[in-house]
Amino acid sequence: MSGPGGTVLLGIGGGIAAYKAAELARALVQRDLAVQVVMTAAAQEFVRPLTFASLTGRRVITDMFSSASPEATLSSAVEHIGVGQEAGVLVVAPATADLMAKFAHGLATDFLTTLYLAFTGRVVLAPAMNTNMWRHPATAANLETLRARGHRIVDPEDGFLACGMIGPGRLADPETIAEAVWQELHPRRDLEGETVLITAGPTQEPLDPVRFISNRSSGRMGYALAEAAAERGARVILVSGPVNLAEPAGVRVVRVRTASEMREAVLANLEPATIIIKAAAVADFHLASVPEQKIKKTAARLSLALDPTPDILAEVGRAKGGRLLIGFAAETENLRQEARRKLQTKNCDMVAGNLVGREGTGFDAEENEVILALRTGEVLELGRAPKRVVAGRIFDEALKLRLALHALDER
Ligand code: CTP
Repeated sequence: MSGPGGTVLLGIGGGIAAYKAAELARALVQRDLAVQVVMTAAAQEFVRPLTFASLTGRRVITDMFSSASPEATLSSAVEHIGVGQEAGVLVVAPATADLMAKFAHGLATDFLTTLYLAFTGRVVLAPAMNTNMWRHPATAANLETLRARGHRIVDPEDGFLACGMIGPGRLADPETIAEAVWQELHPRRDLEGETVLITAGPTQEPLDPVRFISNRSSGRMGYALAEAAAERGARVILVSGPVNLAEPAGVRVVRVRTASEMREAVLANLEPATIIIKAAAVADFHLASVPEQKIKKTAARLSLALDPTPDILAEVGRAKGGRLLIGFAAETENLRQEARRKLQTKNCDMVAGNLVGREGTGFDAEENEVILALRTGEVLELGRAPKRVVAGRIFDEALKLRLALHALDER
């Protein structure tokens, strides 16, 4: 059922704005997208499925258990999984407070909510509801969950609402929603022409042939950055310490073990780089001369004299020329000050700072919550989100920052 521009699932929730979904359906069809409409029972109270069938040229899916026979119910269940496989995007407009709550908590109570759970593509949500419902902490919390899951939210507009109130809650313009869907289907290639050099993971500093010093970095943040950059069209060189992760598609991976090997790999690949991101958790100390034999156990206390490793970021900071340099600061306290300090001392353009040693974010976690200290003096707070979402935001901000720095230089 795919159209020349791709295939979209349009889920319609039960709100007064459901009639505007007809305009959205038309805007999507005009972009040469094949549109399969799914309506909740409540949506059908506001608009008739025939409207959407006429606009899209295909039967509207109205209910999961529309038939009395078990076979038909089963084939309907199989159908909604099948429908989800073909489409690149599921857009829900209007996304009611009720639907967002069900999505956030994984409830599968009808066709649309079941389809959402079975769907593996990109999700766009265009909420619309009464202002008080929009502002309710329950809705706000659900929205945050859905945002953190990487879904694109097309925020409602301010204005007169059907309930007579004035405030936020009105469904965004159908064209704006259609544009968001288009962007999800045809992601930006705004890093084309860039060479992005990224370091990731921990380093291991040997103490003898069988032991080493290392840290808890999993490499996920750096790998997420590499994946995001490649997807947006960059040539990516990923200098990776020892990690347990699959190599991202289309990325050149250079494997290293120690800080000094990482330094060599970075310097060897510096020349073509236009953006450098040092996400690796480099060991700060190492044993300068590693014994050839295993250190044997004795009853006496063992002291090891450790020397500092080279600070790769600081060295790159001195040689960076016109390249955009982004460092990381993993801290257990004083995040802002430390991120700012590292920005200055290591001559970075941006430092992404995060608190480590907490449950669920930072080292060895799926999510991260970072602040971005910029050379312009600004500090941005990115909310807690999956590392892949944070990676995307870092590139968005890096591109904006480069423009801002050029503008400052020209003054
Ligand atoms: N870094 C580096 N080489 C090192 C140590 C750190 O390139 N030998 C880089 C990291 O990749 C990161 C940034 O410097 O981008 C900050 O790392 P962090 O360990 O937080 O900072 P340190 O300079 O080690 O400072 P401190 O240990 O005092 O917090």
